[in-house]
Amino acid sequence: MQPHPPSPVRFEHLTDGLGIGTGTPRLSWTPAAQAGDQHAYEVEVERQGRSRRTGRVTGSDHLLVAWPAEPLTSRERALVRVRTWSASNSEPSAWSEPSIVETGLLTPTDWSALPVGAAWDEDPAAERRPARVRKHFEADDKPIHRARLYITAHGLYEAEINGTRVGDEALAPGWTVYPHRLRYRTHDVTSLLTPGANTIGAWLGDGWYRGKYGFDGGTRNIYGTDQSLIAQLEITYTDGTTTVIATDHTWHAAPSPILTSGLYEGETFDARLDDPNWTTPAASPDGWTPVRTGTRDPRTLVAPDGPPVRCTQEILPVSVTRTPDGHHLLDFGQNLVGRLRITADGPAGTTLTLRHAEVLQDGELATRPLREAHSTDTLILPGTGPYTWEPRFTLHGFRYAEITGWPGEFDPQAVTARVHHTDMRRTGWFECSDPMVNRLHENVLWSMRGNFVDIPTDCPQRDERLGWTGDIQVFAPTASFLYDCAGMLDSWLTDVGLEQLPDGTIPWYVPVIPGEPMWTPIQPGAAWGDVATLTPWTLYQRFGDLELLRRHYPMGKAWVDLVEKLAGPDRLWDTGFQLGDWLDPTAPPNDPAAGRTDRHLVATGYFAHSARHLAHAAHALGHTSDADRYDTLANEITTAFQSRYVHPDGRMTSDSPTAYALAIAFDLLDTTRRQAAGDRLAELVNQDGARIATGFVGTPLICDALTDTSHLDTAYRLLLQTDCPSWLYTVTMGATTIWERWDSLRPDGTLNPGGMTSFNHYALGAVADWLHRVVGGIEVTAPGARTLAFRPRPGGGITWARTRHETPHGTAELFWETTGAGMKAKITVPPNCTAVVELPGCEPSRLTPGTHTLHSTDTASK
Ligand code: BGC
Repeated sequence: MQPHPPSPVRFEHLTDGLGIGTGTPRLSWTPAAQAGDQHAYEVEVERQGRSRRTGRVTGSDHLLVAWPAEPLTSRERALVRVRTWSASNSEPSAWSEPSIVETGLLTPTDWSALPVGAAWDEDPAAERRPARVRKHFEADDKPIHRARLYITAHGLYEAEINGTRVGDEALAPGWTVYPHRLRYRTHDVTSLLTPGANTIGAWLGDGWYRGKYGFDGGTRNIYGTDQSLIAQLEITYTDGTTTVIATDHTWHAAPSPILTSGLYEGETFDARLDDPNWTTPAASPDGWTPVRTGTRDPRTLVAPDGPPVRCTQEILPVSVTRTPDGHHLLDFGQNLVGRLRITADGPAGTTLTLRHAEVLQDGELATRPLREAHSTDTLILPGTGPYTWEPRFTLHGFRYAEITGWPGEFDPQAVTARVHHTDMRRTGWFECSDPMVNRLHENVLWSMRGNFVDIPTDCPQRDERLGWTGDIQVFAPTASFLYDCAGMLDSWLTDVGLEQLPDGTIPWYVPVIPGEPMWTPIQPGAAWGDVATLTPWTLYQRFGDLELLRRHYPMGKAWVDLVEKLAGPDRLWDTGFQLGDWLDPTAPPNDPAAGRTDRHLVATGYFAHSARHLAHAAHALGHTSDADRYDTLANEITTAFQSRYVHPDGRMTSDSPTAYALAIAFDLLDTTRRQAAGDRLAELVNQDGARIATGFVGTPLICDALTDTSHLDTAYRLLLQTDCPSWLYTVTMGATTIWERWDSLRPDGTLNPGGMTSFNHYALGAVADWLHRVVGGIEVTAPGARTLAFRPRPGGGITWARTRHETPHGTAELFWETTGAGMKAKITVPPNCTAVVELPGCEPSRLTPGTHTLHSTDTASK
């Protein structure tokens, strides 16, 4: 029988090859598990009716393989498929399903579109009513072969052609450092066009470009005062001729039925003003006036590196109650990020108000944590029968919604919460015998979904929602296990590089927007700035993309070089503003950076860790002199760290869990003091009744530090603690996402009074990485998951765990359960991977690809 085909080919880190921004996309495929290890492959590229094959290429490469043909030119389409050979079979596999790749507009001269928007007077200092723009046009009266829409905006857009929405993306074009990079998308709109009369139009919103955004209610016009569409529709007829409809002075604009729109504020929509046929040739011209045209440097228009934001799930309310003043209070049973879609029927002018919140207090929406983000949507009904509506250019973080003004009988089926986030491919799963730990893991997953909204944000609900560098730095190992986030984070890291200051400083959040005095001028800070070195390395480990590491290397190097200068010859970074172990639970509420751990201990520890990782990166990239230089630097910092912060007996100057956890996890101690530090760490944790005493820096490290110094039992005590502060405390309080503070909701059920009280912040969920590696037992041990370790370390009374990870090579899975005599484990090793298994009490041994059942008789695993 012919061996099974590999998966269809993927291009770069995209799931869809349409509109790719390079003429030489790299190819990846996953060999079929049943086909055995790949020994050789052949790629076929079919373009312009001609196909070309590479011939049989010996090798196991199947990840980001170089484009094997002449570069594609703008708008060029190719079909790509692959087949493989295993060592044991001379017959090739079947060909994979062909995948389509098609380039976008690769050169600036391909663009003729100009930004177009409202020409009427607007007050840039005030709230402005959004516009819609459109154009009626004639397509030639001959068959259309294909049509593509290349589209972006200053602000946000949603396009329609002949009454049908184009694509299903939300908040397009997302958020990048707009002056340098504005992403456009490519849509296949062939089926929406007809020969003869057609209409194209777009809804516009302010979004990040000119909407109010940032602290204290936000700043308007961060990137510009205009709200404009930039679109180019290219129609190719079967005879090869083309028509191009680009945004220019011939378009028209009209005030939108969206009366107000803001990412924080929400949206107000007057359906009485809507004409559902506004993008059809028959639409009335009343109220439409010629547009104003602007300029945009086409060199700044770039294709996306990752998937768009879209709705990925719909949730109906689990309960609806009536408040004393007659409003409807809906509970969706899950704290989520998205918006409501409602269908309501009532007299014209009936106004429905939709408010959102993550938690209730005294039976009412608790909106104080949202600060200045009003998160209120308003619909004014047209009075023409049942009307279905969902806001377009906003998202809210909520579990509860309150609806005011519902006309007639309330139908719970008429309201749906639509979950939105960057639509990444899920790659990681974990569950175990403890339902509370499973809920904690679910909460991590939901916090990732809610905060991976084009950029990795701190929180999705209050007037912030910024790309805080420290949060993703600690969470990236968890994120890259759960989802294929390579494209999205690669894109964001490009923006981090663009926002890096000339002296090497990495901003606290990216994209940079006007900040509070604390963040202005921007100062370098440990743990946050270290995203420049650590996150590219994490992505390289998980996704195996050496080019990604190469592209971001200069950013990491400039960061470490800066810190080297700041530290001076003694190698101690002990000056300047630092956030330290941010949100240490013992820090005073008004100064979350003032925890028990010396901030400069944290800074110097991170300096060593970054220098070490930069050396690893330099080594991987073949920059040998850099590798030596940064290794030496890391050694010197380590020595300096020890003499400044560690006493001879292993006690540290900050006798705090974070200090020990960091020193152990970053490998900053000699063997003797390392064990002493581990013992002291365990002692501190146990003294404290195994309640959490760490913040953003210590929390992601503490379980590993305990595990690696033979205090696994203490790590499990911490994990399974249910008293405040602890991970499972939040679960006992009904959390369905990870909270910003250990006690965002306090044991008496009241809200934490602090100004920062989010219920959806992934940073403290970084413990899931330990769940995957230590409880679950699957660890990536070489770049691109070429080698894996299956090393479950059971404890805490957990009797089984099942962990699965879709590696670039295929499925890795480990199920273990304790038995009377020890442990039974079922392990799946993907093809082309080298694996080591180490069950408790057993010597490590090699495992070949395939599925294996193993037993250990070690009673420690019970
Ligand atoms: C954010 C954090 C962030 C921190 C830095 C907060 O307001 O929500 O998650 O990292 O500020 O100080």
